[in-house]
Amino acid sequence: MYGMAHRALRQMMHDRLGASTWTKVERETGTGPADLISLCVYDDSKTIALISASAAHLGLPVEEALRDFGRYWVRYAELSSFGPIMDFTGQDLVTFINNLDRMHRSVVLAMPDARVPSFTLLDETRQRLLVRYRSERTGLEAFVIGLLEGLMDRLNETGTVHVAERTENAAGTVIDFAIELDRT
Ligand code: HEM
Repeated sequence: MYGMAHRALRQMMHDRLGASTWTKVERETGTGPADLISLCVYDDSKTIALISASAAHLGLPVEEALRDFGRYWVRYAELSSFGPIMDFTGQDLVTFINNLDRMHRSVVLAMPDARVPSFTLLDETRQRLLVRYRSERTGLEAFVIGLLEGLMDRLNETGTVHVAERTENAAGTVIDFAIELDRT
């Protein structure tokens, strides 16, 4: 993944446990400044190693750390140079999700080697959204849950996210996420 993800993780760890813990994560994973360049692409195994080591320091299972990281990512992106793009993407959940692929396409203009996922809103009622996620990657389910929770935080919604259906194989992943909103 792009170094921007590594920098976001470093920032999350700085916020939670301080710079000295992140230094330990770097040491344990053989990471240095060259692995943290926003616009460089790194093998996903590097990203996973950083998350696993961070999870151990946070005292969380890797899946929980991935979810926290997804939630954190939305706030991190808001403060990055991509903040204005997020504003244009939508001010409510339905609009945002419908524009997410367009938003990622504009990210790809800046980061041409990004392998971004695709999101489709399959069904919508006032209290429930069904969102299909397609990716050539596997293992990021908890990250997506955190991202969707982060979007809810950003757009002043509360609710829960769970997996309604999943197909994951070597060719990639298709997961339908149900967002149950606390609306009356
Ligand atoms: C301005 C905000 C955002 C930016 C700048 C951004 C950018 C990126 C970038 C650079 C990657 C890495 C691709 C790669 O290195 O191959 C990525 C991956 C990803 N993004 Fe976004 N993204 C944003 C918001 C979101 C949101 C709101 C969601 C979902 C609700 C999302 C879902 C994902 C997922 C799940 C991945 C992992 C790749 C995969 O599943 O295949 N992103 N994004």
